[in-house]
Amino acid sequence: MTTATHAAPVRDLLLSVADNTRLTSSIHVLKLRAPEFAHVFGAGQFLEIKTSNGLAPLLRRPYSIHRVEGDCIEVMGKVVGIGTKQLYDARVGDRFQVLAPLGNTFGYDRDDFDTALLVSGGIGVAPMAMLEEELLKRGKTVINLIGARTAEDIMTRHLSNWSVATDDGTMGLKGTVVSLLARELPKLRGSHVRVFSCGPNRMLAALSAFCNERGIACEVSIESTMGCGIGICYGCPVRIRDARGAVRNELLCQYGSVLDAREVVWDE
Ligand SMILES: Cc1cc2nc3c(=O)[nH]c(=O)nc-3n(C[C@H](O)[C@H](O)[C@H](O)COP(=O)(O)OP(=O)(O)OC[C@H]3O[C@@H](n4cnc5c(N)ncnc54)[C@H](O)[C@@H]3O)c2cc1C
Ligand code: FES
Repeated sequence: MTTATHAAPVRDLLLSVADNTRLTSSIHVLKLRAPEFAHVFGAGQFLEIKTSNGLAPLLRRPYSIHRVEGDCIEVMGKVVGIGTKQLYDARVGDRFQVLAPLGNTFGYDRDDFDTALLVSGGIGVAPMAMLEEELLKRGKTVINLIGARTAEDIMTRHLSNWSVATDDGTMGLKGTVVSLLARELPKLRGSHVRVFSCGPNRMLAALSAFCNERGIACEVSIESTMGCGIGICYGCPVRIRDARGAVRNELLCQYGSVLDAREVVWDE
């Protein structure tokens, strides 16, 4: 595992909406009042939100912590189906059952790098704001490389020093965020680089191959459908290869969701 799981115990709390800002027709930032546990999160951790008080959907939905501000936590969401739409439509004062903190953190406490490349794809940008804050506190240089299908999907909220790639070329480099990384890397000769990434698995698989081939340290926060978030439903298997090459299954919600890019076995 990349980093130790955060020590704070998992809690199930009813949190109320302090704000819900729509950034685009499908992306929003939901602010939840969480005085009892806003301070316990590490960057890269996530929570499970019961998006409806009714039966559908029955299962909670995982969201990364976007930011912590005072007594509030923020998540950045993109609508893809029923649960994410319910959160997009949430109103101030609505209340949601939330299980947190879940998962491990990115390895921002390590002392073996001086330059952090935060590589995100689409809504994978969500955890990067908190990660950047933690890295800057530790005196690291932070560079954000952000990829998306089109300009409307590029989110740079609370991020600095960013460059962009879009599939359709409507903003920044026309191409993938991995091509953007290939363009930027030669400028960083002499730096001790570590890549922190989050995005669609296809992007993370390509990024892992790129970094592994070049011996660049890389952490990936990977996606999976999740049910319980606490190791009970076995709904989030991920294949892991150890240093000797042996492959085994782990549960992403317990073992990750942040993994070392060298240990993930991606589906062909
Ligand atoms: C650890 C973790 C952190 C996440 N953080 C964020 C975040 O910060 N912001 C955010 O917007 N989303 C995040 N996601 C993804 C988010 O949880 C899913 O988009 C959400 O669960 C979909 O729920 P739904 O009810 O809207 O979609 P559904 O109606 O259940 O499904 C709609 C479509 O989306 C697909 N889908 C469902 N869940 C996922 C998933 N986890 N990954 C990929 N495809 C999926 C389904 O196969 C289906 O095609 C995260 C996922 C994980 C595992
Ligand atoms: S989400 Fe249930 S075991 Fe991981």
